[in-house]
Amino acid sequence: MTVTLEPNPLLEGLRLRRRPDPCLLVIFGASGDLTAKKLMPALYALALRRLLPERFGVVGAARSEESDDEFRERMKKAVQDHARDPFRDDVWEELADGMRYVTLDFADDHGEDELARTLAELDEERETEGNRVYYFAVPPSAIGTLVEEIAERRTADGWIRLVIEKPFGHDLHSARELNAQIQQHFSENEVFRIDHYLGKETVQNMLALRFANGIFEPIWNRQFIDHVQITVAESIGIEGRAGYYEQAGAIRDIFQNHLLQLVAITAMEPPIDFTADSVRNEKLKVLKAMHTPGPKHIVRGQYGLGFVEGVEVRGYREEDGVAQGSMTETFVAAKLFVDNWRWADTPFYVRMGKRLARRETTIAIQFKRAPHPPFEDAGQELRPNVLLIHVQPNEGVSLAIGAKVPGQGMAIRTVHMDFLYGGAFREGLPDAYERLILDAMLGDATLFTRSDEIEEQWALVDAVVAFWQRDRPSFPNYAAGTWGPSGAEELLARDGRSWGRH
Ligand code: BG6
Repeated sequence: MTVTLEPNPLLEGLRLRRRPDPCLLVIFGASGDLTAKKLMPALYALALRRLLPERFGVVGAARSEESDDEFRERMKKAVQDHARDPFRDDVWEELADGMRYVTLDFADDHGEDELARTLAELDEERETEGNRVYYFAVPPSAIGTLVEEIAERRTADGWIRLVIEKPFGHDLHSARELNAQIQQHFSENEVFRIDHYLGKETVQNMLALRFANGIFEPIWNRQFIDHVQITVAESIGIEGRAGYYEQAGAIRDIFQNHLLQLVAITAMEPPIDFTADSVRNEKLKVLKAMHTPGPKHIVRGQYGLGFVEGVEVRGYREEDGVAQGSMTETFVAAKLFVDNWRWADTPFYVRMGKRLARRETTIAIQFKRAPHPPFEDAGQELRPNVLLIHVQPNEGVSLAIGAKVPGQGMAIRTVHMDFLYGGAFREGLPDAYERLILDAMLGDATLFTRSDEIEEQWALVDAVVAFWQRDRPSFPNYAAGTWGPSGAEELLARDGRSWGRH
């Protein structure tokens, strides 16, 4: 079947980004889920759009024994199952032609030699000029040794970029150690720490919305905004990842990275330009200005048996690989403050969890009420203005405003002005990984987390985890398929507020 991408009139006249230099991409952890579900489909999408370097190759490395052909077959299937575009043999064949696989036990020098040999051969064959992107889709404990090896074998030819998946360490101490180990051999502009939320179109659109429009920034502060609500809700459970999740919990899995980055993007000052350091400097200031929430301002939960979209699902403690009395949290809600002139006393209520009622990531900016509505009929129906950013799904932005109900009198109701990506731009949205892989190849670190940001994020999490150790809440405390424990509702109810139901 031949598929052509339809030209999109809205993209006409847009400056195309430069194509990355020729390079080889090495994926450590090539037998894992991330490679199959995200990385390979992203590479395919880039190949289809001719965004990959002209001369390019991929080397998968993992512990399992596999031949080049078996690896290619497995990756082909992964692309067929998970890519957002229809499968095209010609595009695949071109990509697969430059694919190799190396069995690599991270503690075994033999594998390292084999990898070096394969890279040298492929480099010559594909004329990739010694440029390498190393993608670490492996646990943090495996990163240090690999980085040392890469540094030792570095030659004068070409550039090196290290792309590092989360989790980046397990706490502040281990993250600092990892940063130090990497920084011994590589400079910060060679390191790309992934937080895939930053690669999402809608998250970047928050920057566009705020800084490309004159109307929002003057009111984006404590004078006009009553509070902010950020929700990262998932309806899925832990998807067979008990080994990882039991160690991480919601606080390390989502709060430490995706959630805090969403707060930082929402609260940051306008950067002077869109370069990596300008953007990250401003985000860092927000992270530094954030208080650690006290025990009364943070709620944790764990799901029990329940129904998600009509289907009965197990409780967390019944999931395969989870300890019977597990105290791992699958839900966190918190009231955060960003202590600076723009935001003093403006709460950022955040919540995130697994097995919630539906998949929904939103940022809601709730404005203060009109000081004196002169309409008698407005009553309770008229809600304050809310600017709602739908990060996913149904990506878009919606502004809730009061409008007159047609007819006699002056009844006012809340209505929505909506911008939906699906309607405005005809292209489907790229996956976050497409953007991030390409940016790493281009050496653009704007959408990656800098070492100091990661450390601030961990400092906050460590403080929360420390006081959590003092008590044992009674888990499970919410049924799967609901919006979390009652404590999350109380957190807002105490302030006379409630979570938006969008
Ligand atoms: C990952 C977490 O970082 O993000 C997962 O480890 C989570 O637990 C996932 O499911 C959510 O990503 P997305 O893009 O589906 O919102």
